[in-house]
Amino acid sequence: MQVHVADHPLISHKLSLLRDQATSSPQFRALTSELVALLAYEATRNIRVEPREITTPVSTMLGTRLAEPRPVVVPILRAGLGMLEGMVQLLPSAEVGFLGMVRNEETLEPSVYAERLPENLSNRQCFILDPMLATGGSLLQAIDFIFDKGATDVTAVCILGAPEGLAAIEKATAGRDLTIVLGALDEKLNEQGFIVPGLGDAGDRLYGTVG
Ligand code: PRP
Repeated sequence: MQVHVADHPLISHKLSLLRDQATSSPQFRALTSELVALLAYEATRNIRVEPREITTPVSTMLGTRLAEPRPVVVPILRAGLGMLEGMVQLLPSAEVGFLGMVRNEETLEPSVYAERLPENLSNRQCFILDPMLATGGSLLQAIDFIFDKGATDVTAVCILGAPEGLAAIEKATAGRDLTIVLGALDEKLNEQGFIVPGLGDAGDRLYGTVG
């Protein structure tokens, strides 16, 4: 597993605004998109490309285009949906699959409640979007789901991570081609499974509280 923690002043600046409890939902959504576009730049560093001959107004040259099959972006509902716009700004030709997951608030056990993914993901580069990597349970289940459909090359883009969750994922995915790109690696989890200092519940801050 490869882990990349962003190190860029613009990311820290936007992340600080996102963490601030005074930031409203509309601002939170806009900032999430901007942040993801910056993280996507790093997450797509190894995206597959192929040569393509092009003609400029001056001469011909060997350019580059994204290789087929196209990459697949998978936001984890609900909060991952807030990251989709920023990601497809950079990868407009990507296919988008959806995975709906929710944690039991007491046990923190995740479960899948919706799935719309291509049946066969072999030979597809997959990008999972989920803002929070807390215990790692949700991301791990999503990663397993995607590897079970034949994917071999998976990158997860998360805005915040906790060391406990990262360690759990590392242990459970040994030997797999997995990259995790984080906006920041925070200090720890608290007793409720929230990232500290964190930003609270990303789903609620994006979309409000649902019962
Ligand atoms: C949050 C978050 C992640 C998950 C992280 O989702 O968006 O999916 O928890 O926690 P974990 O690493 O401990 O599994 P939540 O279950 O709150 O659902 P939501 O996105 O619908 O708000």
